[in-house]
Amino acid sequence: MKNDLRQKLHLEPKSGWINDPNGLCYFKGEYHVYYQYSPDSPTGSGRKCWGHLKSPDLISWRSMGIVLFPDTTDDKDGVYSGCGFVKDDTLYLFYTGNVKEEGDHDYVTSGRGANVILVTTKNGHDMSDKKVLLRNSDYPEECSCHVRDPKVWEDNGRYHMVLGARTLQDKGCVLHYVSDDLENWTFLEKYTADDMGYMWECPDEFVIDGHRFLSISPQGLVHGKYDNQNVYSSGYYRMENGVLTDFTEWDKGFDFYAPQSFEAPDGRRILFGWEGIGDIPYTNPTTELGWQHCLTLPRELTVTDYGKILQNPVRELDSLRKNAAPINSGDTVKIDLPFDLAAKVAGDIKVRFDNILQLLHQNGEFRLEFLSDSASGGRDVRYADIPELRDIRIIADKASVEVYINGGETVMSARMYPEDTEITLSAEGVNGTLYELDGIEVIS
Ligand code: FRU
Repeated sequence: MKNDLRQKLHLEPKSGWINDPNGLCYFKGEYHVYYQYSPDSPTGSGRKCWGHLKSPDLISWRSMGIVLFPDTTDDKDGVYSGCGFVKDDTLYLFYTGNVKEEGDHDYVTSGRGANVILVTTKNGHDMSDKKVLLRNSDYPEECSCHVRDPKVWEDNGRYHMVLGARTLQDKGCVLHYVSDDLENWTFLEKYTADDMGYMWECPDEFVIDGHRFLSISPQGLVHGKYDNQNVYSSGYYRMENGVLTDFTEWDKGFDFYAPQSFEAPDGRRILFGWEGIGDIPYTNPTTELGWQHCLTLPRELTVTDYGKILQNPVRELDSLRKNAAPINSGDTVKIDLPFDLAAKVAGDIKVRFDNILQLLHQNGEFRLEFLSDSASGGRDVRYADIPELRDIRIIADKASVEVYINGGETVMSARMYPEDTEITLSAEGVNGTLYELDGIEVIS
């Protein structure tokens, strides 16, 4: 069947542009996903709003439309990214109100207002008035006017907020604030690191099994063969007594940025990323059709005893599996998108989707490589340094693929644009199960 490029597993807009996941939370019996949404154009220009989706189970979603518009003087140029914090029967949403001032500005040292704004809601979509909590004059003097993306949590009876920032010396950093009432915030400390770019966006601090992490999306890193291959990066530090140690990228594929995590009611930490990046050198074919980008699958995070985060698709997605069939090394099969392949690996592999894409492991190197320009939208190859490959899970949607390697220790995500929904899959070196997948449901 001809591929209309509409995703069946990933959240995406019917029209317009989506970027960061925002305000993620579980509130009054439902999961809430807000997101950066530009309804006016698939290229992201025009109004920057918050769209809203909710679900009881991460499978059946209801789209609630736009819940925050840039309609005050404090956020007139964008309801930028932020978070959700649940307390008692109220959801507190914190975001950045972006303001471009009139006049001759470079919008780095001057000309941009970056307000931390709070709205509250009792049902997830009817919002209170907007209240500005922090303005540029409240940030440390060394900061440029790039300060944004509040993430709030509670720890030991106190509220905490991190904000991403760029100093006047063009160094990325995170500002850490504390509060006793969620409205009055005091600057506590700054986190930064050398050679880690000029701007850190979308910070997220959280604890899993006693390990504390700081996730950031840094801009301006040096690109290496195995690391930081994309225009902007995204990864996490393990924090030891407030010190940032070991930066690990979340995703080694082409399309991943600005992730945010939250805690599910059963204690799991779940992460959504933007399956896209700003300022990419690709032309995504859906743009001509009227929409662009999607979110990643929701991923469950767990921690190894050596402090690395494992990411795996939330277990709820297993309920979409049907028609399980064994797949063994040497097999070539035809299968419709979307599908899920889970396999053990002994040695090297070569998994090929028609003449679209191949996943290769050879000599300790994993490669996600496109074979066709039209199906890739111009993407070529991404590498991961994986000395020993043990298992692999591939979830292919109609217009993207997510590859989970070695129990989720490495993940590679990429948009892809096959002409047909039927794929000829050839698998060398893998032995496992191939499932067809039903789609998630999104009701408007
Ligand atoms: C990350 C980001 C955020 C900002 C938002 C604007 O992709 O640049 O820093 O708040 O997108 O849409």
